[in-house]
Amino acid sequence: MEIKHVPVLLDETLFFLDHPTITTVLDATVGGGGHAEAILAKIGHVRILYGFDRDEQAVMRARRRLKKFGNRALIGKSHFADIGEELEKMKIYKVDAVLMDLGGSSFHFDDPDRGFSFKARGPLDMRMDTSQELTASRIVNGYSEAALVKIFSEFGEERYSKRIAKAIVRERGERALEDTMRLAEIVERATPKTRGRTSTHPATRIFQALRIAVNGELDSLAASIENGVDHLNEGGRIAVISFHSLEDRIVKQTLKGMTRRCVCPKELPICACGTPGKVKLLTKKPIEASEGEIKRNRRARSAKLRVAQRLAA
Ligand SMILES: C[S@@+](CC[C@H](N)C(=O)[O-])C[C@H]1O[C@@H](n2cnc3c(N)ncnc32)[C@H](O)[C@@H]1O
Repeated sequence: MEIKHVPVLLDETLFFLDHPTITTVLDATVGGGGHAEAILAKIGHVRILYGFDRDEQAVMRARRRLKKFGNRALIGKSHFADIGEELEKMKIYKVDAVLMDLGGSSFHFDDPDRGFSFKARGPLDMRMDTSQELTASRIVNGYSEAALVKIFSEFGEERYSKRIAKAIVRERGERALEDTMRLAEIVERATPKTRGRTSTHPATRIFQALRIAVNGELDSLAASIENGVDHLNEGGRIAVISFHSLEDRIVKQTLKGMTRRCVCPKELPICACGTPGKVKLLTKKPIEASEGEIKRNRRARSAKLRVAQRLAA
């Protein structure tokens, strides 16, 4: 049975993209094509949607799902840091909307062979782009204890990073760690039972941290958002959906940073030029999923949507 990814904050995203001036859309994380399909089906004035994903499997799924739209949907493989170049290859310099729905798809988390989840036994892989060399196994079996502590504390905000890293190094000395469930068991044993957590499994943060490290998820996010904004026509919109606080912080700061564009001489202590920024925020606070959506789709519980509009270049 094919794993289905349910798009999050779909109505809210469509609300911002359904604007008469929006005729070309770049979906920089097309995934299984859920948002893309709804955009093409429900927003008649969208002439063409360019969809990209770094995951080959996602590209194939999206192509299959969007085939019915003929040449209104053009799908390709690309990291979102390179979307500007991908568009320019097609001689497209500007679009009217950019969508970035960050993180992984259900077909990452629910397919044990991809190694993203500790709920089923699978290889310690976690790559979105399976052509890259770095896997979770390489990190867990090859990185120093100090490097593991850094990953677990920075990307997992895990209190017990040191204990967990120490346990991993001890266990891998006996036998390499190759599967998701063994890693989860080691993490569970290394974590005090009294940690005061409710229903969250102790391995949740460690798996999140490894996934972020394997895929370099935060590395080019700010630059890619800026790049997306630079490829927007005046009045165009960028919508970004994030799934954890580390991502959302970057989205928030990057969009906010682009609302200002000071060209004052460096010597001036405060800005006196009042030069308008590149964007204005359309969402002062992030939009979150309704209780109804969270009930239908647990993945929506941490989703945050932020939208900005391109001002005159
Ligand atoms: C949450 S899913 C998108 C789901 C999609 N909106 C849908 O409704 O089917 C995120 C997708 O982004 C892709 N992705 C994550 N980081 C990426 C990056 N740096 N560049 C391109 N795609 C990326 C993942 O492979 C995944 O398929």
